[in-house]
Amino acid sequence: MTKDKSLSIEQILEILEAQVLERTGRYLSKAEKAVIKGTWDNKEYSQIASDSGYSLQYLQTGVGPQLWATLTDVIGDGVQVKKTYLKNVLLKFAKKHYMKLEISKLDNNSLVGKTKVYGRLPRIPYFYGRDEEIGDLKKQIKISQESCIAITGVGGIGKTLLTAKLIEEILFENPNMYDYIIWNRINRFSSIDELLSETLTIFNLHAIDESLSTKISLLLKQFHLHKCLLIIDGFEKLVQVDNYQKKLEYEDFFVGLTKEVHQSCIILTSQIPLEEITHLTTSFSFSSLHLEGLKESSAMQMMHEKGLGGEKCRELIEIYRGNPSELEAVINKIHRFFGGSVERFFEYSTTMMGPQIQAMLHIQFGQPGFLSNLQKQIMVYLAHQMSQDCNDIPFSKIVDDLKERLDIEVSISELITAIDTLEQRSLIETNKQSNQKEISYRLQPVVKKYILVDPLGLVNKEQYLVNKKQNKMATSHFV
Ligand SMILES: Nc1ncnc2c1ncn2[C@@H]1O[C@H](COP(=O)(O)OP(=O)(O)OP(=O)(O)O)[C@@H](O)[C@H]1O
Ligand SMILES: [Mg+2]
Repeated sequence: MTKDKSLSIEQILEILEAQVLERTGRYLSKAEKAVIKGTWDNKEYSQIASDSGYSLQYLQTGVGPQLWATLTDVIGDGVQVKKTYLKNVLLKFAKKHYMKLEISKLDNNSLVGKTKVYGRLPRIPYFYGRDEEIGDLKKQIKISQESCIAITGVGGIGKTLLTAKLIEEILFENPNMYDYIIWNRINRFSSIDELLSETLTIFNLHAIDESLSTKISLLLKQFHLHKCLLIIDGFEKLVQVDNYQKKLEYEDFFVGLTKEVHQSCIILTSQIPLEEITHLTTSFSFSSLHLEGLKESSAMQMMHEKGLGGEKCRELIEIYRGNPSELEAVINKIHRFFGGSVERFFEYSTTMMGPQIQAMLHIQFGQPGFLSNLQKQIMVYLAHQMSQDCNDIPFSKIVDDLKERLDIEVSISELITAIDTLEQRSLIETNKQSNQKEISYRLQPVVKKYILVDPLGLVNKEQYLVNKKQNKMATSHFV
């Protein structure tokens, strides 16, 4: 795929007509198309009139003025479109849209401008908001030339889609900015070693039997030779928070690839903050963006475009914290079971759990090394306090209750660390509106529901084991 592929007037007219229809709700008339085509071929009105059979006066006074006004509105970009420079405006406009179309079809091993794009980028059928985040990320990449950026946030909050959108915009704005854009999607069976080997094969380097450090320095060399953007999507799938050896390995990877100045950049998305993933004994510079829900205005746009309306939409956005995948899941259910009425859905005062956040919680509760017993205890405690109509639980109450109820030896510093980690993973939250002096904590409704419902028995199973081992209390006390 190249951006220089020449465009015929027929292709341009097709793209233009779709835009005019979208903006004005009308199709271009035959006479308008004749004027556009003729102008493209550098013809005067008189020539267009004799070629098309329309009268000169009709084209000049009946067609032209309205056409130029429409085109100014649709493709003018703030400049008045006139016959004399229609061709340039049209070329610019069509190239832009052609590029967008091509980028949206990106597949394995494509070429956009001079950028070789590897890996399967996610499709972006629609995208709401995130202008600020995209602007910040672009600045970090272009201006501060950050060589590692971590995008973190809970499951389904939009990390992957945001990164894909960022790539789309980078390619669109400057398809020659990078030599390589490599999208690596991590799965449960991946490893850093494999990730390195696979990435090296893109540069025709086959280093399967080499040590990890050799592979890292080989890749670093490529980062010097070529300007690369390496995306590692879903890094948390590699994580073993309690495995010291692995943490050192991850640290070697990041430190090794960022220790020297080069123009390449790694972007990783993860549900777990990078500080927790690596051991960070050595300093290594990276920036992070912790992604929260969509802004209310963007989430409202999403709801409206998906056919929901009314004041209750705001409440829905607040309950699901603007998490787009959660909103999508609940919107679908409202259409299916409540005839598209948000009000009727609220009559049942229930909370829906979307698949992506559930998948994240299954892993957090079910996979060893993600949440410590203390962290799980804190979350279960908060869920039960909240189910008794206690919405924000002050820190001192958490300390007192946990000490008394759990009867386990926990130092304040351990508790603070555990709470901090939970907050960084967006598993618990503070009430930002509260003006109480003492900090208090709560769970977002979906997380609370997961703990209370415990769909796979992963919450209770762990609680039971902890208490049984310590011979303290029965599970029923907690759930
Ligand atoms: N800005 C957005 N506009 C519209 N829809 C969005 C947006 N962001 C995310 N979504 C929707 O939410 C879904 C989840 O987004 P995404 O896969 O990017 O989340 P994630 O944070 O990467 O989740 P995970 O941690 O599970 O990988 C998308 O498939 C899309 O349907
Ligand atoms: Mg993702």
